[in-house]
Amino acid sequence: MKIQIRPENKNDYKTISMINDMAFGREAEGLLVEKLRKNKKFIKDLSLVACMGNEIVGHILFFPIEIKSENNTFDSLALAPMSVIPELQGLGIGSQLVENGLAKAKKMGHQSVIVLGHDKYYPEFGFTPASKFNITCTFDVPNEVFMALELEKDALKTVSGCVEYPKEFNDL
Ligand SMILES: CC(C)(COP(=O)(O)OP(=O)(O)OC[C@H]1O[C@@H](n2cnc3c(N)ncnc32)[C@H](O)[C@@H]1OP(=O)(O)O)[C@@H](O)C(=O)NCCC(=O)NCCS
Repeated sequence: MKIQIRPENKNDYKTISMINDMAFGREAEGLLVEKLRKNKKFIKDLSLVACMGNEIVGHILFFPIEIKSENNTFDSLALAPMSVIPELQGLGIGSQLVENGLAKAKKMGHQSVIVLGHDKYYPEFGFTPASKFNITCTFDVPNEVFMALELEKDALKTVSGCVEYPKEFNDL
């Protein structure tokens, strides 16, 4: 199964929403992507689709966030949302999206990525609980599902604070 990963273009918007709707079984994540696309911080090259032939079968988004402490603000990225069509889940497409996206983000100079998600899945790509870096979030979630990854060695060594997600995430 040959999968190609590429940045989204405007012909993909509807399909991306549909894939999110199917994967999550609701419309909230698809709508989130649509709203974030209108946010000026949106990075088109970090909204990636997985294609099988001409068909889009998966999507991943990395969106800029800030980690704020009393005296400092650090730029980072949130990995969210991510989706693969139900019929093709468990075949490695999601892993290809994560790996490709992380490599691209690193190449673009981003230092770190934060994710709120499956604690058995993301550690495979190097994510560890964000609490290790004294990074917190405002959501009331178990420690192990809120994770961080350094794209550059020690990128989070001197970073601590609370992740500020853009307001669009409040509607989830
Ligand atoms: C999560 C998701 C994007 C992964 O894509 P994928 O192509 O299925 O991923 P891969 O084939 O690379 O890896 C499969 C692994 O994903 C992990 N995984 C997928 N869904 C999971 C879930 N709900 N809980 C925990 N782990 C999960 C498992 O470790 C699985 O391994 P297994 O096949 O040994 O069971 C996809 O399953 C999906 O769209 N799920 C519904 C939406 C979702 O939950 N998005 C992520 C929000 S954090």
